[in-house]
This record gives sequence, structure tokens and C-alpha cells, in this order.
Amino acid sequence: MGIFRMNERQRLQLIKQIDSLRKEIEGRLIPLDRISPENPATFISVGGGELGDLAVTASVRNYGGARGGIVSVAFDKYHGFPAQDTADYSEVFDMMDGGRLEEAIKRYVPDPRAPHAIYLEVERIDTQRAYKLGMEEGYRIMSTPYGPLVCMDRHATKLMFDRLGLKMTPWAYASSQKGVEEAAEEFGLPVIVKPVMTSSGHGTSIAKTEKELKESYRHSVEHARGVGDEVIVEKYMPEVKDIGTEVTQIVVRHFNTEGRIVSTCLPPIEHRRPGATYHESWMPATISSTAASKCRDGAMKIADFMGGIGIYAVEQFVIGDEVYNNEVANRPHDTGLVTRWMLNKDEGALQLASTLGMPVSPSQVDFSRQGVYGVAHVVLAPEGIKDGTSVQEFSLRGLHAEIPEGTRWDLWIFGKPNAYAGRRMGLAFAYAPDLEKARKDAEAVAHAAEKRFVYKG
Ligand SMILES: Nc1ncnc2c1ncn2[C@@H]1O[C@H](COP(=O)(O)OP(=O)(O)OP(=O)(O)O)[C@@H](O)[C@H]1O
Ligand SMILES: [Mg+2]
Repeated sequence: MGIFRMNERQRLQLIKQIDSLRKEIEGRLIPLDRISPENPATFISVGGGELGDLAVTASVRNYGGARGGIVSVAFDKYHGFPAQDTADYSEVFDMMDGGRLEEAIKRYVPDPRAPHAIYLEVERIDTQRAYKLGMEEGYRIMSTPYGPLVCMDRHATKLMFDRLGLKMTPWAYASSQKGVEEAAEEFGLPVIVKPVMTSSGHGTSIAKTEKELKESYRHSVEHARGVGDEVIVEKYMPEVKDIGTEVTQIVVRHFNTEGRIVSTCLPPIEHRRPGATYHESWMPATISSTAASKCRDGAMKIADFMGGIGIYAVEQFVIGDEVYNNEVANRPHDTGLVTRWMLNKDEGALQLASTLGMPVSPSQVDFSRQGVYGVAHVVLAPEGIKDGTSVQEFSLRGLHAEIPEGTRWDLWIFGKPNAYAGRRMGLAFAYAPDLEKARKDAEAVAHAAEKRFVYKG
């Protein structure tokens, strides 16, 4: 049970095997050429946060839900999760429990030959059980059953990028303080030390001094949430924040109208993060056309190598015309939530359509708003509140009056019943012909919204 930890040999082995695993998986996939309430397709979102919600609501918004022929199911670990109210069926349990996960999936899809897709929206699930269900029993774990094993493991990801000849920041693997120091010696300070298996910056530290370097390995192991004592050491590039920028290049792998699986790039999404987690993202990106083409090339290579169908989101650092590939998620990405307002089909709708095997056309991933920048900005719960503090209300009083006249804006409140310090509660959006204005406007909407949550206790 739990997240499967590979050793170095197993990681190399897995990357070597992917060519044959991909052929096996893709050989079994068939396009979905009709939706029918009599023989509905089942879409299961394993995890029902805002990313899952975007896909589940698309089943209703775009196809009429169960009455149109798509039955949606969502799982998460707490009651009142965002996708729960829209999904036709929902279950609340710990998705790290492989037995429960398998049982729940099989309850809704007893026969894996029936049309269905299983979207792994969260990372903290039993990845090995998901692999087994996908590879051995024919369940459509999307984008692929082996995807989470590679994407959740920084070392496996780096090995794959190496194999594909992709440019990265200089990196090294280490499993001791001595190993970290050797890497730092080679790259020079500062370095960034990241646990092999965490996300959202848990256990990560930037070492600028010898003293910080001495602390970095211990910090990583202590904060890795019990998933290991291995780290990746990278040369830290301050240029990314100083003169560069960050991009998420999303690729959707899907059936085309001729029934072949192809990869299509979305326009790149640019984002800034003052801290460790997602803060604001926008489209279109302001990077050079040379950089944009390198972003697409890298992301396409990754998606074509990993295979399957569904979304891949590749995180990249861009400095001038240079692109450094950082990591990849085999699913929609939080920075991509801005697609809800900026593309003809948002990343949730694309994930739903592509993973079920429906055809997708390039025009569907084109801009819905032309000639403007659209910025999404997170709406966060305040620092200093206790874990599990419940939300009493969101007050609409004064909200519209506070937004400066002429602001083109929208607000998405996720409806989470509880909060903890810094939890993402919603997303503000604004658009304008000028990027800096749109960023300022989105931030103003976000802050106006944050003030209107009333928390209990
Ligand atoms: N080598 C580096 N040089 C400069 N900045 C870096 C480097 N590595 C990471 N960062 C910064 O830290 C952020 C988080 O890094 P990364 O994505 O590798 O970690 P993570 O824990 O997986 O975070 P998340 O889950 O939010 O993606 C990056 O988006 C970037 O802003
Ligand atoms: Mg990242």
C-alpha cells in the first residue's frame, strides 16, 4: 500500500521499458465514437479538487452528463470536496489504500472493456495498484498506468529527460549529506536540494552558504513525508526569477478524426511564484518565438515518449531563448486553470474528452479571447488559521464595489468546506490588453475575495 518507491536500478529499468509498455497500452486503446445514455462511458476522477472539478463539470457542461451518456464519479479523502456536488457518484476514502481504491474503481467499472477513463487527479494514491489495474487488468488509467511512477519520481523524470536529450539545469542524485556536498562542489553554490518524491516544495531548500548546505540533506529527509531519503541536487539558477520566467507547456495526446493517437500543444502558459506554490499564471506567454518552439519541442518529445492519451503538463524555466525542462505531470496542472477563461476548451474538458477517446481538434485548444492577456490569481485562506477551520460564508457584500471600474474580471470559488493556512480557496481572473494591468487587476480581485471569506473559530 502507498506510494511505490523505486531504487536507482528500477528507475533505469522502467525508463528502458517504456517503449514496449507504451506500445502495449496504445494497442489496446480505442476511440470513443458515440456517447449514449443506454451504454454510457464512465469517467472516474481519483481526486476531486478544483482540477478534478474542471473535468467532471465538463462532462455535464459539454455532454449533458449521465443523460447525455457520460457517468461521472469522483473520489477524495474528505466530504464536501469540489467535484462531489457535480459528480453522479462520489466516494470518500484514503486513496493511498490500494484495496479500497481497486474496490471503488471496480464498483463503477466492473468490466474494463466498457468505455471508461480513470483520471489520477492527485499524486498521493497507491501508484503501484494503479499500475497493476492498468497494465494487468486493462483499466484505462490515464494518461498511462506507468505515468505516475515516472512523473512522481524526480530521479526517474531526470533519467527520462536525459534519454530524450532534453536540456535541464545541471543535476545530481544523492542519498547522503556527502553526496549533496560533492554535487555542490561540482556545480558551485547556490544549489537547490529536493526530495526525490515530493511536490509543492516540501523538503526542498536552497543552499547559498556552506552552513545551509550542511542542513539541506537533513531538512529534505525530515520533510519528505516519509517517502524516502534520496534527493536531487540542482544548480540553482537565480536568473529564472531575476531575468527569466516560467512556463507550463501542456500537450494533449488524443485520437484525431482518423482514429490515430496524436499530440497537440496548447499555447504556453506563463507563471510566477513568489513562494513555493502556484500563485498566478497567464496566457499568452511573453516568451520569444525561439523559446516557445523549444518549449513545444521538449514537451512533445516527452508526451510522445510517455504515450497513452490525456494531458501532459511540462514545467520549464525560460531564460531568454534558452529553455530548461524541470518536471512533467501526466495530468492537468494548477497553472493551467487559466485555460478555463482563455481557451475554447479548458484543460479539464480536454482531459475528459481525450482520456475517454473522443477526437480533439487543434482549433479547440486555440484562444477564446484574442488580443488580451488573461491572468488567473490564487485566492488563499489566511496564514495563521488552524487546520480544518471551517468556512462559514463568503460574503458578496461590497465585493463588486471594491473592484475598480473598467476591470474585466471573474471569480471562481471552489466551495471547500474547510481551510488551513494558505489553502487555495478560489481563483480570480482578469483580462486586459496590457499584461501588467491584467496582473494587477487579477490580484485586486483575489485580495477582495480573500477578505470576504468568514471562517469559523
Ligand atoms: N534549479 C532551479 N533553479 C531556479 N529555480 C528553481 C530551480 N528548481 C526549482 N526552482 C523554483 O522552484 C519552483 C518549484 O520547483 P519544482 O517544480 O522542481 O518543485 P516541486 O516541489 O515539484 O513544486 P510543484 O509541486 O509546485 O511543482 C520552480 O517552479 C522554480 O520557481
Ligand atoms: Mg514544479
